Amino acid sequence: MLKDKQVVLGITGGIAAYKAAEIVRQIVKGGGQVHVIMTRSAQEFIAPLTLQTLSGNPVTTELFQLYQEREIGHIALAQRAQILVIAPATANIIGKIAHGIADDILSTVVMAAKAPVLMAPAMNEAMWENPIVQDNIRSLKKRGYHFIDPGWGDLACGAQGTGRMAEIEDIIDEMAALLTPKDFRGQKVLVTAGPTREMLDPVRFISNPSSGKMGFAVARALRQRGAQVTLISGPTALAPPRMVNVIPVQTAEEMRSAVQKHFAETDIVIKTAAVADYRPKKISPEKIKKGAASLSLEMEKTRDILGELGMKKGQKLLIGFAAETRKVNAFALEKLQKKNLDLIVANDVGRKGSGFGSDMNEVRLIFRDGRVETLPALPKEEIAHILLDRIITLQKESRARKKK
Ligand code: CTP
Repeated sequence: MLKDKQVVLGITGGIAAYKAAEIVRQIVKGGGQVHVIMTRSAQEFIAPLTLQTLSGNPVTTELFQLYQEREIGHIALAQRAQILVIAPATANIIGKIAHGIADDILSTVVMAAKAPVLMAPAMNEAMWENPIVQDNIRSLKKRGYHFIDPGWGDLACGAQGTGRMAEIEDIIDEMAALLTPKDFRGQKVLVTAGPTREMLDPVRFISNPSSGKMGFAVARALRQRGAQVTLISGPTALAPPRMVNVIPVQTAEEMRSAVQKHFAETDIVIKTAAVADYRPKKISPEKIKKGAASLSLEMEKTRDILGELGMKKGQKLLIGFAAETRKVNAFALEKLQKKNLDLIVANDVGRKGSGFGSDMNEVRLIFRDGRVETLPALPKEEIAHILLDRIITLQKESRARKKK
């Protein structure tokens, strides 16, 4: 979503200024162009050279330096920018913008900008709670400025409290959301992610290596595109995506009841979860002690969550994922038909560097009519957006059919 986007990043003077270097890196990694503007106090915390090197573009520090103006053309840049991000944003810059003060390069560019402005405040807790700051934020929000609120944690002043700049991942996510057309607005989508865990005894379980990354990427992409998202996830090490209703579960049965509970109000279900097909028939109430030379476990089948949804699908769209190690297309198509799905994303989990745990994946999209779209190896975020594009097409096709 940041690909080829023109971003102006304003950095103001707070200890979190060092984190701006990572923001630049992430935007560049996502294919965006970053133009950094630093206030004088920001330069006390981080050197312009660092940001110039990372962004590959000259850094602007002065309002009245003719050579910078000739090379960069700030006002033109402000008008060409597709988004303006201020991270960290101090109480000072927030106050200045709220009151129309344009007395340095950053506040001047903000005043001239036509693009959305996103601010990530970072300050000491007492400053953050100061009613003047809060009033300024409220009045800026009313005027359409966007904020990503600080979180709770260790502050530079040694205390703990609210005032730490939001996580970089969340700032990037919010930028992407502001740059993304809201083609899923008004739709309720249920996503499942991660593995399930089936306990054998109080300290052991059977599971699989699913990291949840694909499902979390789908949930994040949906949120960026305006959907109302419920994410039912087995245990993962991932941070919950912003503004997504996350429901943590452990077992296949818990996932099933959570899915069933939300199904009625859902328009689309996307099941990326790697659900256990079998679970131990009995869970030992005590730890199983080491003894005999071998141990057999009796397992019983879990219920097929997606299969059950397929039977009462109605007008809803059902999307499955298929993990296969051989005959990928044939097995995936068979699953699509058996579970009454609209689309299945087939994944060759036997391949290295793709699938479980990886940030990349190489998948094929298989449609009801047997059509197969093979995608190259791509980051999971990108696969998520392509999948959502295809869902929009399916919905358009279905609306067109109904009209006939
Ligand atoms: N699935 C499910 N409930 C289960 C098992 C699978 O909802 N108990 C869903 C998965 O979330 C996925 C799809 O069904 O979207 C296919 O899962 P997969 O494990 O590939 O296939 P299975 O149906 O379990 O078949 P097999 O393990 O034999 O390949």
